[in-house]
Amino acid sequence: MSHIDELLRTMTLTEKLGQLNLVTADRAITGPATDADIDAAIRAGKVGGVFNLWGREAISATQRLAREESRLRIPLLFGLDVLHGHRTIFPVPLAEAGAFDPDLWMRTARVAALEAAEDGVNLTFAPMLDVSRDPRWGRIVEGPGEDPLTASIFARAKIHGFQGDDLRSPAAIAATAKHFCGGGAATAGRDYASADISPRQLREIYLPPFRAAVLAGCAAIMPAFNCIDGAPMTAHVELLRHYLREELGFDGVVLSDYTAIGELIEHGVAGDRTEAAALALNAGVDMDMVSGVFLEHLPEALARGLVREDIIDAAVRRVLALKERLGLFDDPVRLVVSCAARTEAAQELARDCARRSIVLLTNRRILPIDKNLRRLAVIGPLADARMEMQGPWSAAGRPETCVTILEGLKAALPDCEVVHAEGVGLDRDDDCGVAGACELARRADLTVLCMGEAAYMSGEAACRATPDLPGAQQQLAQAVIATGTPNALLLVSGRPLMIGDLAESAGAIVATWFPGAMAGHAIADVLTGAFNPCARLPITWPRVTGQIPIFYAQRASGRPTDEANPFTSKYLDVAVTPLFPFGHGLSYGQASLENLRLDRERYFTGEDIGVSVDVICSEECARRETVFFFLHDRVASVARPIMELKRWRQIDLAPGERMTVSLTLGIEDLVFPGVELRPIVEPGAFDLFVGFSAAPETLLRASFSLLARPDAA
Ligand code: GLC
Repeated sequence: MSHIDELLRTMTLTEKLGQLNLVTADRAITGPATDADIDAAIRAGKVGGVFNLWGREAISATQRLAREESRLRIPLLFGLDVLHGHRTIFPVPLAEAGAFDPDLWMRTARVAALEAAEDGVNLTFAPMLDVSRDPRWGRIVEGPGEDPLTASIFARAKIHGFQGDDLRSPAAIAATAKHFCGGGAATAGRDYASADISPRQLREIYLPPFRAAVLAGCAAIMPAFNCIDGAPMTAHVELLRHYLREELGFDGVVLSDYTAIGELIEHGVAGDRTEAAALALNAGVDMDMVSGVFLEHLPEALARGLVREDIIDAAVRRVLALKERLGLFDDPVRLVVSCAARTEAAQELARDCARRSIVLLTNRRILPIDKNLRRLAVIGPLADARMEMQGPWSAAGRPETCVTILEGLKAALPDCEVVHAEGVGLDRDDDCGVAGACELARRADLTVLCMGEAAYMSGEAACRATPDLPGAQQQLAQAVIATGTPNALLLVSGRPLMIGDLAESAGAIVATWFPGAMAGHAIADVLTGAFNPCARLPITWPRVTGQIPIFYAQRASGRPTDEANPFTSKYLDVAVTPLFPFGHGLSYGQASLENLRLDRERYFTGEDIGVSVDVICSEECARRETVFFFLHDRVASVARPIMELKRWRQIDLAPGERMTVSLTLGIEDLVFPGVELRPIVEPGAFDLFVGFSAAPETLLRASFSLLARPDAA
């Protein structure tokens, strides 16, 4: 009999339900605070895991309660939202996604895992894999953007980074893929709101990243708060039990989101907490985060025949199995020795990751900054902001270690006179500082405007119906630009911001996102040209909020946009095109694509499709370039998106270098959910689009025909 079987045999019902109880220690506040006495609950065997706690001393003391004072001495899980770093804060996930570099994604997760493990954490509630096309949604910052392929590759990289090859390694932490699924499609971009997602959209957009996570061996999954088509994810039998458990074979732990089980009552599907407990357990949820519903009401659900004990046992078994995979029964605190050198290396990685995440959106010959610049004015509420650089979800981050933009620029330009004015507040409407700021700008040779959001305006419970520059920042920017001094506008944010006429009037625009601890140095590296910016947008950047949702993988209209024809798909007041398309991003110098070619024009189903394209770098400077490969299935039994990302390749080019990029597309790239939503491939004509972004006018195009195999039935 296994160790787990033996434990189960000896456990009382309360002790079993205790393993399904995940409580917060409230060191970080990530939901309505509770005043539960968790120590007493742990001693009574009523807790399976504690989260929002970190620090070796605190965790060791809490683990000791379980190991020495509870009857069965079952070790606890210790969870935390380690999304983009633990002590060393990396750029927010939406920023990092723009690096389009899976190895980097893995490396930052690996460092975060090590730092979190040093602090006693053994479970992270990350990666967040919500595909979203709605910048009103504050949590868009936490995920990898709008594209399912990018999100799937991001999932694999992050899970490998967090979990390594063996969860028993003290430097590994269990990963939780969240929020399963569709939270990014919440109505009107509002947190916790319901989402109406067609079964097709589920299969094409929202499920693929979680399929990738399960295939990557993710230890846990967290359902979304949201209700999808009338079924709250926390009790979604079709998606949790049939899709996740049965179709994908996921045998890890499903842990609810914060008080989500109790909220089934508010959703209107449970009449009381007993029914809520039964619905969640029967749907496949194993752990109850904070609501206490499992512990307090499953006994009654059992008595009322709403649940069976073998279902409870199965959930307990999965929780105990995770603890066993982590090696907690043998080594409950998993000693990881801290190391100062690691911190230095982590900060260098944070700087490099931030450099690779910063997107140069426009540049009217302003950047890079001339090395002989004499007087620089750094203006705006984010110029000398320290904590804001971390962005949201930086639980154990140390704001005091963040490098501000002002500090970074001063360090990078030691011979330049750098002056600074906040100008306006981050979220106040007072513009009393505008005049003074303009005076500084007038006397400078260049102005760097540091605008954007505060960290609290991004992340959970941070949706914005008007995602523009908060407060009086737009006025400040317009006034400073009107002084005529050359200027560069930096946008520090967790989402694409609506910037109105600044898109045309600013001399250069840089999306820094929330760049993490090494913000100032990374931004200075990019602005001075010490690093050639290479990040690309992982999300379409709208012109105005009214265009949302806007994304590249649209399905065609029967009346495609034709500005000259009123009876086509368009607006009267705004262009249908985005301000900046998916994949957009500039570098210093130029690059071009030529000579896209396929190895054949016709292929039988299942044959590899060989693709090559030449990338040419101009003489000015070396660069890292990202080449995107999109497919369009012209005619199919189900209308296909006008383009779908199937691959990207990143290459480093020397000045003047010409490089051929070659890859192979396979049958898996041609598969789509057919009318019955089963994966199929249909013969026919396909277009391959290759470019530096999803901007249609910049893409090279090649076509091929797919033929049914002659031996196919
Ligand atoms: C929050 C978030 C979730 C997080 C959890 C624990 O409500 O929705 O992403 O992991 O609570 O902090």
